[in-house]
Amino acid sequence: MSDSEIKYGLAGVVTDDTAVSKVMPEINSLTYRGYKVQDLASQCRFEEVAYLIWNKELPTQSQLSDFVAREKSERGLSDDLKNVISRFNKQAHPMDTLRTAISFLGQEDKTTEDSSPDGLYDKAIRMYAKIPEMIAADYRHKQGLSAIAPDNGLEFSENFFNMCFGEVPADEVIKCFDISMTLYAEHSFNASTFAARVIASTTSDIYSAVTGGVGALKGPLHGGANEAVMHMLKEVGEPDNAREWMLTALREKRKIMGFGHRVYRSGDSRVPTMTEAFKKMVDVIGSDEAKKYWEMSRGLDDTMVSEKGIYPNLDFPAGPAYYLMGFDIPMFTPLFVASRITGWTAHVMEQLGDNKLIRPLSNYTGSGQRDVVAMSKR
Ligand code: COA
Repeated sequence: MSDSEIKYGLAGVVTDDTAVSKVMPEINSLTYRGYKVQDLASQCRFEEVAYLIWNKELPTQSQLSDFVAREKSERGLSDDLKNVISRFNKQAHPMDTLRTAISFLGQEDKTTEDSSPDGLYDKAIRMYAKIPEMIAADYRHKQGLSAIAPDNGLEFSENFFNMCFGEVPADEVIKCFDISMTLYAEHSFNASTFAARVIASTTSDIYSAVTGGVGALKGPLHGGANEAVMHMLKEVGEPDNAREWMLTALREKRKIMGFGHRVYRSGDSRVPTMTEAFKKMVDVIGSDEAKKYWEMSRGLDDTMVSEKGIYPNLDFPAGPAYYLMGFDIPMFTPLFVASRITGWTAHVMEQLGDNKLIRPLSNYTGSGQRDVVAMSKR
């Protein structure tokens, strides 16, 4: 088989149908169930977007109230799971602990193997409701603080901030966070979603599929890039260093985190909206440090685009925006999970709705067939 016949990294390969989202790189656009993601981010709460991703339509007021009530009723972790989190290694990366907590949740669920449409929906909402508490509890455990229980008087994003920091920030901060949740929620057959679909296609359970998705998302070439962006900004240090830092990094052929995309080649459709949210955070915080990160990121962006024609992806503005919201850098990718749980589980439902085992072929390059020589004769 020639190299040209092999689709390395499955680049450009269409492997199945999907009705969840459509990525249109030629016009830099992304829609969820037909709605432009920028419009969803500006006009909807994340809860509405989650409802849309699973139910294919935006909710009416009463459907949203029921959905929100259901999410609240699913909040809360078992004592066993809280104990497990309280015994996690404090040095472990939060993606490792979150992966373990989700897996633990799966083994607690007596209906794990129920992959009927209703069974999958129940589990999707369960994970959507409980993952924020897993992230918050692990964060506080690492800080040596006791966990804060969910507060059903608070909405999804408010409750998450409260469980992390013991307070609800200003409305503008909640809105920026909600925007990031909406933008991270779904993106067709990206690596983690595809990993989840591969696992679902074996008719394994949805918790296994999500756990696999978390593992795939952790990598710096995928979700882990939002953390790497913040480390990069810290390394650059000052806005005046940005251009020179980038030119040196490019000369050294370094991979610049937060830039480039397998599908978008002339800009990521989600970036303008998240960049606006990042700017909003800079204005809300108003500190010299916040302004410094903004100017630095402008310098890096301009230099990368003018020198290489490679555009920033969503992780580039999301990383520093999360930092300004007060999150620890290793929490950034778990925040992505709190959002992408919607997309992953919608894809698992879709995969199982018309399942075909995903099993590609490979081009063998090892030694030719040969005979085994017994140990005594080798
Ligand atoms: N920094 C420097 N060069 C980059 C780059 C980056 N972030 N992204 C792409 N390139 C260059 C590659 O070096 C390659 O150059 P070459 O043809 O001279 O070898 C060319 O652009 C094509 O890149 P390639 O890595 O083959 O594209 P891909 O489709 O396999 O990779 C990513 C896409 C996302 C993995 C890649 O852009 C990347 O690693 N980005 C940084 C990580 C990141 O931000 N990930 C989050 C994605 S949402």
